[in-house]
Amino acid sequence: MKQVTLIATAAMGLESIVAKEVKDLGYEATVENGKVIFDAPISAIPRCNLWLRTADRVKILVGKFEAKTFDELFEQTKALPWELYVDEAGQIPVSGKSVKSTLYSVSDCQAIVKKAIVERMKLKYGLVNKLAESGALYKTEVALLKDEATLTIDTSGAGLHKRGYRTGQGEAPLKETLAAALVLLTNWKPDQPLIDPFCGSGTILIEAALIGQNIAPGFNREFASEEWDFVKQKHWDAAFNEAEELANYDQPLSITGSDISHQMIETAQANALEAGLGDLIEWKQMQVSDLAIKQKNGYLISNPPYGERLSDREEVEKMYRDLGNIMRHHPSWSAYIITAYEQFEKVFGKTATKKRKLFNGFIQTNYYQYFGEKED
Ligand SMILES: C[S@@+](CC[C@H](N)C(=O)[O-])C[C@H]1O[C@@H](n2cnc3c(N)ncnc32)[C@H](O)[C@@H]1O
Repeated sequence: MKQVTLIATAAMGLESIVAKEVKDLGYEATVENGKVIFDAPISAIPRCNLWLRTADRVKILVGKFEAKTFDELFEQTKALPWELYVDEAGQIPVSGKSVKSTLYSVSDCQAIVKKAIVERMKLKYGLVNKLAESGALYKTEVALLKDEATLTIDTSGAGLHKRGYRTGQGEAPLKETLAAALVLLTNWKPDQPLIDPFCGSGTILIEAALIGQNIAPGFNREFASEEWDFVKQKHWDAAFNEAEELANYDQPLSITGSDISHQMIETAQANALEAGLGDLIEWKQMQVSDLAIKQKNGYLISNPPYGERLSDREEVEKMYRDLGNIMRHHPSWSAYIITAYEQFEKVFGKTATKKRKLFNGFIQTNYYQYFGEKED
């Protein structure tokens, strides 16, 4: 086997950004709801896990077929070449979901898929007794949508947002994948100033620094498929070597994070250190109203409090108003703010150049984008 079909799963609204990342890695992709699908050589498994900043996971598409009865589900699952991917001793937990499908009992679908895989494996590996299931992990999923079953194996293990640098977090940390997307949605270049005056645990700025120095976000973690036989060690070695070669640790950065909370600044500092960024990012405790911008043509990317509780409203409106007043004096700066607060533009005092709907977890937000006018 030389080629695999991969699915990079994406949070709602981030599919096009994930697709761009996949294309930038050299693979032609198609986009569906919540996923980006592409055919690629096996070496793409390590590369995509290491490099995709905005995808949730990378899965192998084992097969897709119509199934309206348990018999159809069983037979077609058994007809798929599981032995190409799963080692003889592999653990094969099966999870499931069913939407608008005749087969709606998820637990029955899971049990049937599991039985079909086990039968196939026993046949192919010539086993009489039950499978040992003591080896590497092959988390399998049966997803039914309108009577179409999609069978996948997860290559990532922990979700790709787990970069391995988060030592601590605040009350409302941004997922690393969304933070990276916020940065990639801007035109920020590594040689331009970047600030986040509500930096919390520092996620946006840490992701920006990794992007700025072209550091692979998965460089400091492990992946489930590192334990698999069919993804050869040489593929992992090549992917890690490529990441090492492409990292540009000499790229100077001008990134500053501030937050009203001392504790968050300490956490952000510790996270940046853990991410291998040392003191590349400047952190300071400060409230947004004290923000003083000295450079030109910079970017502000931020995830301020949303004021969801009525009691917080006034305070949050003041922060937005203060920020709007500060930014008004710096027309060469671009500002990108994600918030669920619906009257944001009114309070900030300016209509956004562009808006984009994004989900922060289950919260529907807008990403307000104000383009600066470049100064010489
Ligand atoms: C939604 S959190 C940001 C989370 C961050 N993106 C992360 O990933 O950890 C908002 C942050 O704004 C900070 N904050 C609240 N009021 C502030 C103010 N007046 N000035 C500056 N920061 C403030 C809070 O301490 C909190 O860390």
